[in-house]
Amino acid sequence: MEVYEKIFASVAAAILVLFLGALAYGALVLKINLPGHGEVISPGPGENLAVAVLKTPPFNTPGVKQVSPGKYEAAIMAQAWSFMPAEMDIPAGSELTFKVTSVDVTHGFFIPGTTVNMMVIPGHVSLETYRFEKPGTYLLLCHEYCGMLHHTMVGKVVVK
Ligand code: CUA
Repeated sequence: MEVYEKIFASVAAAILVLFLGALAYGALVLKINLPGHGEVISPGPGENLAVAVLKTPPFNTPGVKQVSPGKYEAAIMAQAWSFMPAEMDIPAGSELTFKVTSVDVTHGFFIPGTTVNMMVIPGHVSLETYRFEKPGTYLLLCHEYCGMLHHTMVGKVVVK
């Protein structure tokens, strides 16, 4: 019996080591991380959240900006049922950091075929960076149910 216990214990230990290794590999080598939550935008007394967001940089100038050679940043406002802006254009091979916030309810921010997959919470700034190597049109979807026209809440990233 003791032999079996030893076998089971070592198999269990090996599985743990394997899973921890897979986790470390994903986080450190593949750089798969949870979307970071940057700052929180809180409206003043009696102020509407949308008004507060539109006053707060970088959301006061929504859209794509170049921050350094090959690096871009996009400030995007999510609201039922659209993204503002709905289209982002960048050159192939560049890195794009998405800074996204919602002004009403929780939305999703998902670009199939990339690692961009975030939840967008009202007043919270969600951050995610992705390098777009291949030219093409990448579809952006809201994948968090947000009401009647949720299925129409789409956008795109055009990589040239
Ligand atoms: Cu926004 Cu679903």
